[in-house]
Amino acid sequence: MGKSMLLLLLLGAFSLVFFQAQATVCMVCQSFKRGHCLVGKSNCTTKYSPGCRTRNFFIFSQTGIWVHNHTELDCSKACFAENMYFGSLKVSTFCCKGEDFCNRFHGQIVKKDIY
Ligand SMILES: *[C@@H]1O[C@H](CO)[C@@H](O)[C@H](O)[C@H]1NC(C)=O
Ligand SMILES: *[C@@H]1O[C@H](CO)[C@@H](O)[C@H](O)[C@H]1NC(C)=O
Repeated sequence: MGKSMLLLLLLGAFSLVFFQAQATVCMVCQSFKRGHCLVGKSNCTTKYSPGCRTRNFFIFSQTGIWVHNHTELDCSKACFAENMYFGSLKVSTFCCKGEDFCNRFHGQIVKKDIY
């Protein structure tokens, strides 16, 4: 094996360690309400940035306000912070990284949202 080959291998090993150090553990949950996971609690690891995703689901009520229905937590390779509207359903997305389980802090805690 040539010296440059060895150097390349070493470099590869170092970058692997580096990326692992950069990875963030995110909370996974299918139904997160008032700070607790009710359904499908797990975790996932992402090295993408910002790869921890929080999606708050709101339903437009008859009284004209958006009422929080539930929150979903997961990992995403392409997370975009945005509000999406599907008729009377609003999905509000947050992304984060760098702190393990950071996505749980973006879950909607108050029940009502007027935006
Ligand atoms: C992630 O979940 C697994 C089980 O799915 C569990 O064993 C592990 O401890 C969890 N990791 C963290 C950091 O909570
Ligand atoms: C609202 O939340 C319930 C679980 O509490 C879920 O079964 C239902 O699919 C959700 N509705 C929408 C429109 O996301």
